[in-house]
Amino acid sequence: MTVVDLPSLQTRRRDLLDTYGVRAPRYTSYPTAVQFTPAINAEIYGGWLESLPADEVVSLYAHIPFCRRLCWYCGCNTRVVNGGSAVSRYVGRLSEELDLVQARLPGRFKATQIHLGGGTPNVLSDEDLAALFGKLRRVFDVTGDAEISAEIDPVVFNADWARAAVSHGLTRVSLGVQDLTPAVQRAVNRNEPFSVIVEAVRILRGLGVPSVNFDVMYGLPRQAVSDVLNTLSQLVTLRPDRLALFGYAHVPWMKAHQKLINEAELPDAVARLDASEAAAEFLMAVGYERIGLDHFALPSDPLAIAAREGRTMRNFQGYGASGPQTLLGFGASAISQLRQGIVQNVTAELAWGQALDKGLLPTARGVALTADDRFRGEIIERLMCEFTIDLAETSAAHGFPADVLAGAEPTLATLERDGLITREGSVVSVTPLGRPYVRAVCAAFDAYLEPEAGRHALAV
Ligand SMILES: C[S@@+](CC[C@H](N)C(=O)[O-])C[C@H]1O[C@@H](n2cnc3c(N)ncnc32)[C@H](O)[C@@H]1O
Ligand code: SF4
Repeated sequence: MTVVDLPSLQTRRRDLLDTYGVRAPRYTSYPTAVQFTPAINAEIYGGWLESLPADEVVSLYAHIPFCRRLCWYCGCNTRVVNGGSAVSRYVGRLSEELDLVQARLPGRFKATQIHLGGGTPNVLSDEDLAALFGKLRRVFDVTGDAEISAEIDPVVFNADWARAAVSHGLTRVSLGVQDLTPAVQRAVNRNEPFSVIVEAVRILRGLGVPSVNFDVMYGLPRQAVSDVLNTLSQLVTLRPDRLALFGYAHVPWMKAHQKLINEAELPDAVARLDASEAAAEFLMAVGYERIGLDHFALPSDPLAIAAREGRTMRNFQGYGASGPQTLLGFGASAISQLRQGIVQNVTAELAWGQALDKGLLPTARGVALTADDRFRGEIIERLMCEFTIDLAETSAAHGFPADVLAGAEPTLATLERDGLITREGSVVSVTPLGRPYVRAVCAAFDAYLEPEAGRHALAV
């Protein structure tokens, strides 16, 4: 049995921060969004849709870019609306986008997963929900056992919304918590007492929603490690099925409202690393299994079962148990992933609607996948999910010679020397020391990566 000496592990991890805590992609896709170009346009996406097999099984994503409040840390594509008319208009336009996609599809595909993301999907009214789910079910054959999930702002949440969503098949909710400490909440303009979360969970469980997730963040302004742990101690009393623990991505050059955050109050890289590791240790000590970079699940949860069986996947929505390879995204900024490539819709709601006015798919950019992209993408996804990969086996499965990754050799040798990975034959495994730096390990296989300061958030 290996005995891991935790304090010294943490000290060694801190020593690695200067070298490996640099800015790095989150690898929710490979190639990453930096490689998306306008050369992949509506015409190309339409052609890709047409050439899918008629019996394709898909996962669906609808982006709802509206909120009732603006949290200063928010990195999502959203805006604050007070009334419901803008939201209802938008749902009407989503229906037009679904019509345009349907016109290109060779059949009525089975859909086994639907995710409503945002923004705040619980700003949708009963009528909006009925219109959206009605349309999705007309265009797609949503299976009886489909997993239907939504991101929820607990402060806006109420029982009427939950009842309506459950009547449309809701099976999983993700409640945004972030941090329950009043001083941290003030520093990010997000007031959210624990009682609101308790009540939301009571309603959801009462309605029989099988799976509840909480989003928690570290790296927020004025947030001490003890604040993260206090937040988690309260949350685990509600026994959520899953928790996601996100490191705050501070990218004010992309999200202007993040400039409202006082940078002097942000924890430094050492404090971020300490918070994320202390949080992980705490969650594992109270019975959660650690999945990938930032997810935790009860051992009975399908995500934990999938992780034990090596079946987790990573996409734009984070980690999930294995599902369809094809993801069709709808709404402003939504991303679709097909075997031919990845496409992203126009981000601005106005321009997205203008494309629909012209009867065009609102595609803004994307990337066509080469055989090399698929090969490297699989290595990166397995590392992000399972922290280990057999390079020879993966090369052979993709029809590449064993020396195809010779270019990565110097970086791998350095990572091994620094204790982030071990190598046994062709199997590369990320060590416990290297786990927080898995993005840096993935970067060794990224054929596009150039050190472009400022384009990504901190890697830890
Ligand atoms: C799309 S948001 C929807 C959450 C929901 N509207 C709410 O506020 O509760 C999903 C999650 O993304 C995470 N998130 C948002 N901005 C982030 C950032 N800048 N860095 C890291 N995580 C972020 C938060 O944990 C948030 O709960
Ligand atoms: S965290 Fe949620 S409520 Fe806050 S701005 Fe982002 S999407 Fe909206």
